[in-house]
Parts: sequence; structure tokens; C-alpha cells
Amino acid sequence: MKNKKVLALFLILTLAITIVVGMTGCQKKLDMTVLYSEIDAGAEVTFTVLHTSDTHLTLYSDSDTKEVKKQGKKRTKRFDNLQEQKLQYVASMAKENGWRIVHTGDLMDFPTDANIERAGVFFAETDCLYVPGNHEPEDVNSDYYKKLSAVAGRDLSFFCEEINGVCFVGIDNSDHKMTATQLAQLKEVVATGKPIILLVHVPLYTKELYDASIVDDGAAYLMAVPEDLMKNYPEDKYRSQKADEITYESFEYIIGQENIKGILCGHLHIDFETRVGNIPQYVVGLDSVRVVTIK
Ligand SMILES: [Fe+2]
Repeated sequence: MKNKKVLALFLILTLAITIVVGMTGCQKKLDMTVLYSEIDAGAEVTFTVLHTSDTHLTLYSDSDTKEVKKQGKKRTKRFDNLQEQKLQYVASMAKENGWRIVHTGDLMDFPTDANIERAGVFFAETDCLYVPGNHEPEDVNSDYYKKLSAVAGRDLSFFCEEINGVCFVGIDNSDHKMTATQLAQLKEVVATGKPIILLVHVPLYTKELYDASIVDDGAAYLMAVPEDLMKNYPEDKYRSQKADEITYESFEYIIGQENIKGILCGHLHIDFETRVGNIPQYVVGLDSVRVVTIK
């Protein structure tokens, strides 16, 4: 009899906890990994940047369509509703330490005015160096791309900002490609002879990164993968990730430049360190930030 009462009490308690957790929408706790890397660039003074990527904001407003709202809810769950906390975590870590932030794209999961507004607030309060990802509006002539460029306050297709004698060159390669214009602009910066750190969303091909990334769905999501390594890609991934001639040319050019000292990127949602030719390339994942010391 006593056992029955204890069991009943236990069941009632379990039910009550389930209801409360359900009603309050209890979510996963933020658990960020802090990685540390060093780039030997020949800077005038040693300094630090905080590298983050792939926040995937899923904000929308009343005026958005039913489909957008539905997608927003679904994708919020996918990212455990932690995106805003991650953004604040990065902003306050950078502020406390006096570091600039490098954000290598997919700040938002899909373009909406609400996401672009939040991005604008983030840019204004952090003055971060940002390149767009494939979840941001891809078409450079679209209204959303123009709105995003406006809040970022710079040309997002290509920019160069010098910090302590090191040129941070941001290139929008979010469609897994580079253009002839971007290559020509890069050559101009290289010609100054100053050390360069490249900021891109899509990592450049290396075999070890390819092997680590191909496992999910048979595509590696890298820029300039050799054609023969793409033959087993699903058709749609092959079409969207296949490099064109100018992208392969850009890749070969980058590998050959001694004053390109490092590459910071995201896109893969994993942490990875590799070398593109001699150039160290750092990928930062979904639940990590990378403290990069630049010497
Ligand atoms: Fe991406």
C-alpha cells in the first residue's frame, strides 16, 4: 500500500515537472568552447581578434509571410534557440578584452528585415569585420543584399581593412566561388607587399578538410575542390559547389602568395585547423569562438 502511494506521488511529480518544463520552453544551456590560435603575420604589434561564424539568427516579424514564420520556428529549434545568447556572448567577450570581432558569415539563417536589423545593431556595437555566408542573400543585386551592405557599412563583396600593419581582406565566396573582379582586387592588395589575412565564409579546399567534411551528405562544402573528387557528389550539390575556371585560378593564386598569412572561415559548423599550401586556415564551428593572436 505504502509503495503504491510513493509510486503515485512520483508519477504526479514527474507529470508536474514535464508540464512546467513544456510551458516554460526550457532550453539547452549555452556551452561555448574557446579555441586559441596564433598567426605569424609580421604585425607592427601583437594583437588579438575574436573569430566567430554561423550564428544563424532566425528572427522574423508580424509582417513576414506564414512560410517565413514557419521556417523561423523550425530553424530556431534546429539551433536550440541559442543564437541571441551566442551573439551576446561574443560581443561581451570582445568588449571585455578590447578585441575586434571577425564574423565569417551566416550571421542569419535567412534574410528578413528583423534579422538585418539585429545584424545592424551587432555591427554598430562591435565594429566587426564581417563577410556574408550562403544563408545570407546570395544575389548581390537583391534588396536584402543592399540592406545588409548598408548596415555593415561597407562593400561586402570585397573589402580591405588594415589593423596594425596587417590587411584583413574580406571576400564574399559564399556561393563557393570567386569572381574575376575579386581576384583583381586581391592582387592589388597583394601588390602592396603588406601581410594579409583572408576572411571568407567557405573554406578553401585541402584534402584533410575534404575528408572531414564529406561524411555528412557526400559533399564537402569547400571552395575549389578538384573535379575528380566531386564525381560522387549529389547532383544538386555538384551544381552549386562546382568551381569555375576563375575560382580555380584564384585558389592557385592564393596558394602562391607568401604575404597571405592566414585564412579565417566558417560554413562547415566544425572546428578545424589545416594548411592551404603553406597558409594556415582556421575553421570555427557552431559552438566555438576562436581567440586568434596575430603577431
Ligand atoms: Fe554556410
